[in-house]
Amino acid sequence: MQVPERVTICEVGTRDGFQIEPDFIPTEHKIDVVNRLTEAGVPRIEVTSFVHPKAVPQLRDAEAVMAGIRRRPGTRYAALVPNDKGAARAVDAGVDAIHTVLSASESHNLANVNMTIAESTDKLRAVAQIASRAGVPMQCGISTAFGCPFEGDVPVDHLQSLIARLVDLGARGIGLADTTGMANPRQVATVLERLIPRFPGIEWTLHTHDTRAMAIPNVLAAMQLGVTHFDASIGGLGGCPFAPGASGNVCTEDLVHCLHAMGIVTGIDLDRLVAVSRRVEQIVGRPLPGQIIKAGPSTRTYPLPDGITERLPARVGG
Ligand code: COA
Ligand code: ZN
Repeated sequence: MQVPERVTICEVGTRDGFQIEPDFIPTEHKIDVVNRLTEAGVPRIEVTSFVHPKAVPQLRDAEAVMAGIRRRPGTRYAALVPNDKGAARAVDAGVDAIHTVLSASESHNLANVNMTIAESTDKLRAVAQIASRAGVPMQCGISTAFGCPFEGDVPVDHLQSLIARLVDLGARGIGLADTTGMANPRQVATVLERLIPRFPGIEWTLHTHDTRAMAIPNVLAAMQLGVTHFDASIGGLGGCPFAPGASGNVCTEDLVHCLHAMGIVTGIDLDRLVAVSRRVEQIVGRPLPGQIIKAGPSTRTYPLPDGITERLPARVGG
């Protein structure tokens, strides 16, 4: 199996996850989670979003969270923005990168950001100018890239022309988001085989949701095509409040465990990451969908039941 030596994880739990929590997570808890993720060695964190506080009241403390976190040199702290107003707020708050949001489908874009795709791309032109003036990279995420909960299929031709517009605006990276877990591995491979050669120099990120248990298979399919950047949420938190049927992202500790088991380097300390997930479970007050937090790593072994040890045959070859 062809796999990369190293993969870069971007943790999105404090944004994609906390945005959909029914209760407002206190600012100091958000800061604490970001600090613990930093200490666990997570190289990129999408800390929050600078959106309208009425649209996503759960993240209305974006400035305070950015101001409160302890930043480790080398860790990239990004935020999600939908428009120029959000970009200006993000730059003032000192983000290292701007992640923009736009949907591949008109219906989801209207539901999510109250704009047509054309209106959104106009706003993203202004975002690009703000990012470039501030010297921060712009990564453009495309929601519903593999299917829309309102419209169904998203034609790859349409996706390609949208990406071409974003690359023209100055996107250094493109994030393909499977907002409601509609993608399957074969589809991911087909789409990436088509897109990657057409946009040389672009950093591709796959943003998966595990709504239909296809997130890790989709990551594996993308890795086979050379993608090395993946978004994930601690504990498997996550979901878009404006997409019916949305549920959590691929769980960060489950993905990191899978990658490490295959010998792929992430730079993340899995034990510390699992401890962060336990802390997040306390904060949200319920168990999260992650598996590793329950099962432990695949290297875990258990003591034998009574009476078995004496009956074990000697191992051939010692
Ligand atoms: N942050 C804070 N305020 C903002 C803002 C931002 N990023 N963008 C716009 N506003 C303010 C404007 O200043 C204006 O304020 P005013 O009425 O005091 O003049 C008001 O919001 C309306 O501006 P408008 O451009 O018409 O925005 P809108 O009401 O059409 O909303 C968005 C558009 C994009 C701001 C809103 O839909 C949004 O924030 N969506 C976020 C969706 C999201 O986060 N989804 C989950 C992630 S995938
Ligand atoms: Zn998402």
